[in-house]
Amino acid sequence: MALPSFPSVWALLCLLVLVEAHSDGVDYYLPTCPQATSVVKEKVTEYLKHNKNLAGGFLRLHFHDCFVRGCDASVLLDSPEKTAEKDAPGNAVSLRGFEEIAEMKSLLEDQCPGIVSCADIVALAARDAVVKVGGPSWPVALGRKDGYISSDVETNASLPTTFMSFEELVQNFAAVGLDEDEMVVLSGAHTIGRSTCLSVKNRLYEFDGVEGAVDPSLDSDLADQLKKKCPQNEDGEILEMDPTKNTFDHLYFKAVLANKGIFHSDAQLLTTEVGKKLVKKYSVPGSSFSQDFAAAMVKMSNIQWNPLGEVRRVCSAVNQ
Ligand code: HEM
Ligand SMILES: *[C@@H]1O[C@H](CO)[C@@H](O)[C@H](O)[C@H]1NC(C)=O
Repeated sequence: MALPSFPSVWALLCLLVLVEAHSDGVDYYLPTCPQATSVVKEKVTEYLKHNKNLAGGFLRLHFHDCFVRGCDASVLLDSPEKTAEKDAPGNAVSLRGFEEIAEMKSLLEDQCPGIVSCADIVALAARDAVVKVGGPSWPVALGRKDGYISSDVETNASLPTTFMSFEELVQNFAAVGLDEDEMVVLSGAHTIGRSTCLSVKNRLYEFDGVEGAVDPSLDSDLADQLKKKCPQNEDGEILEMDPTKNTFDHLYFKAVLANKGIFHSDAQLLTTEVGKKLVKKYSVPGSSFSQDFAAAMVKMSNIQWNPLGEVRRVCSAVNQ
């Protein structure tokens, strides 16, 4: 059989490159900015060398981006009126990673101007950070576009809060296409990172709006410890959500099972049979927590509300 002539092989190659450039795969930037993924990975490695705890910051930033308007970097936009996503109470206090994302973006703009979206940088940083603290890896399909709109009102309506019941958490996740099991396994993200006292005070001093009431679903020894760290009328200390705040492991679920999850929403995971079964399953080493988490992250990181968008030049502002 004759080999295909040289020109037809050439044509086929060209076609493949074209298809590649238009598909939203992990190799999306191969033709236009092949170093994009390795630049993010190297920078994340460097940031975490200085501060491992920042892994939690990157992971939460991606989550908060995706739950409001899809994963479109809307969380990074500044607004002079202070009415952007980052100004909403759920973000304003402690969301972090902004400076690092801006730095990676500026590096990539130097190397491949106008190519790599801020939303993709956020998605890659979350994945690379989780891997660095011992968590699973997952494929990040690239080609997200950066959105034009960022609203505190929408953020209030879209992010889950610690006050929610199990049913409300399920509904909140369902609104972005994530199911009950995925809600539970993604809560396992609290195995890394940190919290302010603001997020637990309602359980310590005025549970259910009752002055002086402590949440009965919180272990009483932990409640006492948290009260010491978080005095009623002070900002208090920075808290961890499990004993190994810089390691992605099963200990968050072990804590939750022992009524030692620090948020009301963590405790809610035990209030249904489905939730309790999953918490138990994930609370021991060697469970499918890492695999299930990775699969749910792939879904979360593909939440899209509007495929139209741009590649911002600067992550905090839409292009002029
Ligand atoms: C189920 C509903 C959830 C609620 C109510 C919730 C709530 C919270 C709260 C209140 C904090 C502490 C904020 C502070 O005071 O500093 C926090 C931290 C965090 N959350 Fe969640 N969360 C939820 C789900 C998730 C999901 C799905 C992810 C990611 C997949 C996630 C990742 C994180 C991370 C990594 C931190 C630590 C942030 C840091 O170290 O800066 N959370 N969460
Ligand atoms: C968002 O919710 C908080 C209460 O959690 C409220 O104080 C604030 O005014 C709300 N912001 C907007 C823009 O709706």
